[in-house]
Amino acid sequence: MRLYRATDYNDMSRKAANILSAQVILKPNSVLGLATGSTPLGIYRQLVEWYKKGDIDFSEVTTVNLDEYAGLPKDKTQSYHYYMKHNFWDHVNISPEKTYIPDGTADDAKAECLAYDRLIAGIGGIDMQLLGIGNNGHIGFNEPGTSFNTDTHLVKLTETTIEINRRFFDREEDMPRSAFTMGIRSIMQSKRILLVASGAQKAEILNNAFLGPVTPSVPASVLQLHNDVTLVGDAEALSLI
Ligand code: F6R
Repeated sequence: MRLYRATDYNDMSRKAANILSAQVILKPNSVLGLATGSTPLGIYRQLVEWYKKGDIDFSEVTTVNLDEYAGLPKDKTQSYHYYMKHNFWDHVNISPEKTYIPDGTADDAKAECLAYDRLIAGIGGIDMQLLGIGNNGHIGFNEPGTSFNTDTHLVKLTETTIEINRRFFDREEDMPRSAFTMGIRSIMQSKRILLVASGAQKAEILNNAFLGPVTPSVPASVLQLHNDVTLVGDAEALSLI
């Protein structure tokens, strides 16, 4: 694992954006696996800024997102589809037909998951997967206890995740209880992984994930078994590493 220590959130965002843009410059038709959540917002902001200055070109890039809430139409402001459009896709020259994210409203969840895995395989797999980490060690929505052998699947969200993510919903009952997520195997098949973390609330779980035992109770610990992982964290997040 490569570890980059950033001073603060902005520095973390810039360092991670540099790694993603290096990937795109070296391989213009890269397949980028993307994440949502609070942590990558600064990365997307930075990439958009560089794109506007003419420093990076996304015209040949394909993106596949990690996850999407089940039951949430894509035009709802809390959907991850909306997040991606609003924070990234709409501001760069990426072709809309090359941006993929599970369809949260799919009636046949199994068929949707299978189609997503086939799609990823069909475009040649993910060159670089961007990941955040949940306070409970989840990656994507692979919650503690998820088998390392999972492909894209529908998950029931844990109470911890519901508690943390409900801040984005007006009413508690609007918060979806399940989500589509790439599985641990889908993530591990990416050629390169870039995990970003910021803030003191991530310190303990990063320590458990990267220096503790590899166990499904800490899903991110599986990354110790991947041969190309880069961790970019700010000083608070890396305070125990
Ligand atoms: C988002 C995702 C989640 C988040 C994680 C951390 O697509 O898959 O695993 O990366 O919950 O979220 P933040 O960045 O909000 O702390």
